[in-house]
Parts: sequence; structure tokens; C-alpha cells
Amino acid sequence: MLLKVAELSDIDDVLELHYKYQVDSIKEEDKKDGFVTTAFTKEQLTRLINKEQGLFIAKLGEQVVAYVMCASWKYWSAWPMFIHMKKDLPNLEYLGQTLSAENSYQYGPVCIDKSVRGKQVLERIFEYARVHMAKKYPILVTFINKINPRSYEAHTRKLGLEVIQEFEFNNNQYYELVYDTSKEVKI
Ligand SMILES: CC(C)(COP(=O)(O)OP(=O)(O)OC[C@H]1O[C@@H](n2cnc3c(N)ncnc32)[C@H](O)[C@@H]1OP(=O)(O)O)[C@@H](O)C(=O)NCCC(=O)NCCS
Repeated sequence: MLLKVAELSDIDDVLELHYKYQVDSIKEEDKKDGFVTTAFTKEQLTRLINKEQGLFIAKLGEQVVAYVMCASWKYWSAWPMFIHMKKDLPNLEYLGQTLSAENSYQYGPVCIDKSVRGKQVLERIFEYARVHMAKKYPILVTFINKINPRSYEAHTRKLGLEVIQEFEFNNNQYYELVYDTSKEVKI
């Protein structure tokens, strides 16, 4: 499996994987194993690559089997959900620091193709992205919908993210989680 920072030529393959598991287009039977909420356009992924170098992918042969997106709060400010989370950063403390747009970034969405779930692809791509993002930020911040228990288990029990608070947005209930980016994931 090849892990890499995505290039513009990878965008179509990433969007193909994304549509398979995005809440508006996912097959009903796949929903129980998690889904991605945020929708993306080609332009938004182009900006993610060009401005943030924040799209990380895993390839098996020619197929993109996993992606993780990581970016500054400035990038995410195009989505109301992230504006809401960004505003609340000053009310949260982690590692003895008040969270801010300078000391934290937003991790996710993350998506692993069904064919490779449970095979440590998540651990490997998480660690790969962590090493890149740790150069700029000490703290990872993310959210998980409470109706996504698979993602919650994977990120808390297996990867070690910590719940910092719970919140409601647009009638959905979420966990907000944090992670110390200096912490290596043992694979
Ligand atoms: C969520 C996701 C990234 C996790 O990666 P993964 O490779 O499936 O994770 P793993 O299988 O290693 O870990 C999931 C764990 O949750 C457990 N699990 C699965 N379904 C569960 C459920 N309904 N309730 C509780 N635990 C569950 C699994 O048994 C596994 O634990 P184990 O390894 O101890 O058996 C992946 O499933 C995915 O991409 N799903 C679709 C998109 C998505 O939900 N993205 C995350 C949005 S926040």
C-alpha cells in the first residue's frame, strides 16, 4: 500500500471513494459502518491540495482505498459546522493550552473503503497525516456524529483520541475530540 500527499491528478479518485460513503449517496446497507457528512466539490479539494497540502491518501495499485483531510480553520470556514466549532475553540483547553486557530487544525473527514477496513489502514494513514500536520500544529481537533459508533470506537479506543466535549448542531449530536500530535500511533 502506498501512502502519499494527494496531487491534483488524484482528485477524481478521491471523490469517487467519497461519494460511496457520503451521507447523501451511500448505500443504505453501508450506513451502519459509518458515513461522511461533509460534501466536497472538485474546487474545494483543489484548494485543499494547493493551499494546505492537506489531502492524504492510501493507494492499492491504481485504486485510492482511503483518504484523510486535514486543514486549517481558515480553510474549513467555508462550512457552517466548522465556523461553529472554530468560534468555540477559546472555551476549550487541552495540553495546558487554550485551543485556537493557531495551535489546532481540523482532522477529517476520513474514509476507508469497505474492502480494507479493520486492516490497520486507518492507523497507517492517520499516523502518516499526523507526522505531516505535527510540523505546524500541536493539537488535532475533530468531530464524530453520535450515530457513527464505528468511527467513535476506531478513533477513541484504537487511536486514542479524547472526547473534549459534546455538542449539537443542525439537530445532530456530536462528540468533539482532540489528540496530541506529538504522540506516535503504535501500529
Ligand atoms: C470509520 C472508519 C474510518 C473506521 O476505520 P475501520 O478500518 O473501519 O476501523 P476498524 O475496523 O479498525 O475499527 C473499528 C472498530 O469498531 C468496531 N465496530 C464496528 N462497528 C461497531 C458498532 N456498530 N459499534 C461499536 N463498535 C463497532 C469494530 O469491531 C472495530 O473494533 P475491533 O478492531 O476491536 O474489532 C471506516 O469504517 C470508514 O471509513 N467508514 C465510512 C466513513 C466514516 O464513517 N468516516 C468517519 C467519519 S467521522
